[in-house]
Parts: sequence; structure tokens; C-alpha cells
Amino acid sequence: MKRPFAMLAATGHAVPKRVLRNDEFVGMGIDTSDEWIRERTGIRERHIAGEGETLTSISAEAARLAMKRAGVTASELDVIILGTASPDRLLPATAVEIQAALGATRAVAFDIDAACSGWLYGIQIAEGLLATGGYETILVIGGEQLSRIVNWKDRNTCVLFGDGAGATILKKSTKGRGILSAYMRSDGTLADLLHRPKGGCLAPVTPEIIADGSHLLTMAGREVFKNAVRSMADASDRALDGAKLSAADIDLMIPHQANIRIIEATAKHANIPMEKVYVNVDRFGNTSAASIPIALSEAQEQGLIKEGSTVMFVAFGAGFTWGSMVVRF
Ligand code: COA
Repeated sequence: MKRPFAMLAATGHAVPKRVLRNDEFVGMGIDTSDEWIRERTGIRERHIAGEGETLTSISAEAARLAMKRAGVTASELDVIILGTASPDRLLPATAVEIQAALGATRAVAFDIDAACSGWLYGIQIAEGLLATGGYETILVIGGEQLSRIVNWKDRNTCVLFGDGAGATILKKSTKGRGILSAYMRSDGTLADLLHRPKGGCLAPVTPEIIADGSHLLTMAGREVFKNAVRSMADASDRALDGAKLSAADIDLMIPHQANIRIIEATAKHANIPMEKVYVNVDRFGNTSAASIPIALSEAQEQGLIKEGSTVMFVAFGAGFTWGSMVVRF
């Protein structure tokens, strides 16, 4: 496969209606403040799914927008890949529910769990599938309902996350557009720093587990922070090296939106000024696998990406998983 082989033809996003502002946590009995959250994370508010808003419905909404923008119909989809750590059900994959919702009857549909790197991993898997010659149009979604798996009594985590979905249509490259370089890494030795300790097959859910909340997300924040900064710095180097480009060639950087301080550290390491970095963590919080495609969709809506623009993506998440890509649009 000679790159660019696959291009990101169009992206769309959708988020739940309800906005939860930082100052509302105090009324929910959580010992925190708007000031603490903004200073430590850059987050002001996030979207939280309400009644009837499921991962399937939000993801399908994002997918329909991406399909409309790409001029693709449901029957043309060959594959649907959903990156998520918060599926609607543990079985079957939420991707098949999205397939049914879209009426994409021909599509092969499956989930991947690479946490916040889910969309980036999904794009790279899709590129490989396109290269087999067996598929032409692939829908890659990053979608989350993290509000359903965070511990709403734990101030260390509940203020950080939000819900939403972003969806991208991948097709074979034309006019030299597409993925110029791609990089993926994992390190399972650090899995316990950001995880849901119980509730899986290792420790099936019991009333005790429900009572102590050990089926919910838990995180060693400071350790995750350090690893995120280190890994995203390395990934940004790899993306540039792989594309044989320098920082000055990058028109826009779209990093995973977890924390403004992690974003600033990554941009500083990569030598990319903050004016060229897309930031929306203030409005959405950390939406895990959805964060990069939501940001990409917004950046395109705002005209920040033109034909010929070179964009660098950098992701990091539970696992740990991380990676990067440079894409010419
Ligand atoms: N409100 C008020 N205080 C809070 C709080 C909150 N929501 N959450 C934690 N604190 C407290 C802690 O209990 C700690 O108190 P202590 O010193 O009395 O124990 C204090 O604030 C400082 O905690 P510390 O861990 O030093 O803060 P920090 O500067 O590292 O910021 C995070 C905490 C979670 C914001 C930061 O570590 C982070 O962003 N980590 C990465 C998270 C992430 O991005 N995860 C997903 C990766 S994909």
C-alpha cells in the first residue's frame, strides 16, 4: 500500500441536548468548583445524554451528517467500525445497532475498544481494509456515553467526561489527498491506571460491586496525565517523521481533548503554536473516542480545513493506547 491510499471524505458529529455546566456539580453534592475544574482541565461544560438519547442514536445522527456531507447512502457502506468504551449493551456490538438504525444492510459492523484512541485506531484499521481491495466505503465512528460509566460520587473523574459522537467516511484517495502517515501504540502494563475494575467476566457484577461503585471508571489522574504528555509528544514526532514533514508544514493540529494542559504540552513539544491547535475541551469535556472526530467536524464547519490543508491528529487513552496521523485534506 502506497500512501496516501485512503482519504477522510467527510466527518459529522452529534452531541446530546443537555449541557451540564461546572457550577451545577455543587448542587449535585460534589465537593468541587467551577474555578478548580477550569484551572486544572480547561473544561467549562459538557453534554450529557438524557432520556432516549443512546450511543446508537447519537452515533447514527453523527453518521447521517457525515454521509450527507460525503454524498454517500446507507446502502453504499461496506463497513461500520465503532470505537467506544461505553457500548449500549455488552453484547452485541453497538455498531450492529447503528447499522440497523441507518439501514446499512450490506455493511459489516463491529466495535473496537481502544478507549480515547478508538476513532484513530478505527481509521487506521479502515485504511487497511480499503487496501485489501474488498471494500470501498467505510464509516468510522468514535462515540461515547461516558456519563453512564463514570462514578458521579467521585470528583476526581465525574467532572472530566462528556457524551457525544463523531463519524468519518473513508474512501480511496484521490488527488493526493488522504492519510500521509499513521502510528499506533499500546501498553497494557499500565492498564490499572485508568479502568473499570469490576463488572466484567473477571468479576461479574454483584450487589456489593454496585454498592461500592467498582464497576465504574476509576483513574490515577496524575499518573495518567504524565503518561499522556509523554506518549502524545512521542506520537506527534512519529507522525511528522512518517510523513517526512516538519511542524511548519502542519496547518492544524487536532489532539485528543482531555485536558487543556495536556493539549498545550503536546503542542509545545511538537513546536506548533496554539493558534494552529483546535480546542473544544471547554465545551465538551473529554468525550474519549468521540473527541477527535467531533473536533474535526467542527473545524471543517468553521472553514479551518481547506482542500490541501495538512492536519495532524494525536490521541491517548486507557489501555494505555495512543497514536497519531497526518492527513492531507
Ligand atoms: N474538584 C476539586 N478538587 C479536586 C477535584 C475536583 N473535581 N478532583 C480532584 N481534586 C483534588 C484532589 O483530591 C487533590 O486533593 P489532595 O491534594 O487533597 O489529595 C487535589 O485536587 C489535586 O489533585 P492532583 O491530582 O494534584 O490534580 P492535578 O493537577 O493532577 O489535576 C486531573 C487532576 C485529573 C485534572 C489531572 O491529573 C488530569 O487531567 N489527568 C489526566 C486525566 C485525563 O485526561 N484522563 C483521560 C486520559 S484519556
